[in-house]
Amino acid sequence: MTEECWIPAGKAADLHEKGKLVFRKGGKQILVLQTGDRLFAVNNRCPHQGYPLSEGHMSDDCRLTCNWHNWKFDLDSGETVVGGDQLRSYAVKIEGEAILVDLADPDRTAAQSRALDNLYACFHRYEYDRMGRELARFKAAGGNYARAVGEMINRCYLQFEYGMSHAFAAAADWLALTEKYEAEGRDDAALVTALEAVSHFAWDSQRYDGFPYADRVEPFEAEKFLAAVEAENEAEAVALMNGALAEGLSYAELRPVLARAALAHYNDFGHSAIYVVKAGQLLDRIGADYLAPVLRTMVRSLVYARREDLIPEFRAYGPALEGWSQSGEALSVGELWAKPANRILEAIASSAMAEKELYQLLFAALVRNLLHFDTDLAARTRNKITDNVDWLDFTHGLTFSNAVRHLCEETPELWPQGLLQMACFAGRNAGYLDRDLDVTAWKVPEAAAFLAQAHDFLLDHGLPEPIVSCHILKTLLALEEEMAAFPGAGWTGEALAAFNRFLAIPVRRRHSLRTARQSLEFTAKE
Ligand code: FES
Repeated sequence: MTEECWIPAGKAADLHEKGKLVFRKGGKQILVLQTGDRLFAVNNRCPHQGYPLSEGHMSDDCRLTCNWHNWKFDLDSGETVVGGDQLRSYAVKIEGEAILVDLADPDRTAAQSRALDNLYACFHRYEYDRMGRELARFKAAGGNYARAVGEMINRCYLQFEYGMSHAFAAAADWLALTEKYEAEGRDDAALVTALEAVSHFAWDSQRYDGFPYADRVEPFEAEKFLAAVEAENEAEAVALMNGALAEGLSYAELRPVLARAALAHYNDFGHSAIYVVKAGQLLDRIGADYLAPVLRTMVRSLVYARREDLIPEFRAYGPALEGWSQSGEALSVGELWAKPANRILEAIASSAMAEKELYQLLFAALVRNLLHFDTDLAARTRNKITDNVDWLDFTHGLTFSNAVRHLCEETPELWPQGLLQMACFAGRNAGYLDRDLDVTAWKVPEAAAFLAQAHDFLLDHGLPEPIVSCHILKTLLALEEEMAAFPGAGWTGEALAAFNRFLAIPVRRRHSLRTARQSLEFTAKE
């Protein structure tokens, strides 16, 4: 409890006469209202957009209406009946001729908990601006943003029907920036990045009810867990993970097993491996208190992951893995770039080069893919559904590679899987390249200044869908990490140019005419 702080707020006679008065103290504006023998004191600034509630009107049942946008506040219960944010109220009394208002700050723990409740209340209707305000209130009450993200995960994770989404992966990266901006004293930038993290969870969960997880607990055994994931048996895989939680295993202890599950196939367009890495980084920031929801959503996404090595385009993956010999020739980027997946798979599986050298070659090929993406193909309106392609098909090659490096450095026996899956990525986009593109205009003269601009762009990107901004973020941070891991690498210039081009040419997120034409053509053959 905080100590009371009663302040004189005016004369009782004035209040009796007018029914309301406003007084100002320390930047606050307090509206005191009297109706019959009832007294109320509330923030005079409407919690919607700050217009004065003193210009509003009060009904007989003590509902105060803001006349600007009709928000209504029940002063008895403290609830907002129409609108969103709660109206701050204060204790008020009359002693003799004086009106006294208690300006003491509310108890910080209670204020944090209320802000978190209100933050989650915004999820249902994706109230972005209000989420910003509730996060600011949480912070002002002494909360930290990482905990707010953890608490939101706790509340919404059951709403993820297929488990982990990019919201989890992006939260790790956004919170890394939050931490950096807080250390630099940049409050606005810290709130932007925390809000990006939280609002992405709201976006991804908003239309869904709960999809509960199995409660059953089975003693954790790595091989049993891998078999359950392989058999797409969510209940069994979750029961085993519940066992791991009961035994107190940490994420770091479980990560090698999760990595094996993620790389057991060319999984889910690389999402599985990315999520295994990013979930660990996320937990490093939000803390192990949130291990259970993160692990359960991870397990579900592993179970539901599509296994793309089973489709014809990547059938060469299995034989390449089986025939992994590392006995052949050294390779160059030119020999890998713009080749179909089966050719690259064969070359990688039989090359005598060391894993890290192969990694860099493949990364260079993926960077070149991004640089040479033929963006005209994304704007077509007459193409087969199977040829729908856009920037994110290319950026994933880089973010997946970054995840592969993390996982394989920790568990080196996974290098063959990781490298061959990078080869799948390099090959899958070979048909969507403008090989003769003049890339001179995209060259970046000064890397540090360019990267700083890219970070600034992320603070005010103006993109409504979190999926787009999060891919810009994840690609940027993956590139920065890879450049730090391989200083002066030959692909650095192309990587910066590729990212420059990606930033400059917007991701097209709606294809109305293409969708209509494809729908007509597709269904006509049914
Ligand atoms: S400012 Fe009060 S309802 Fe909008």
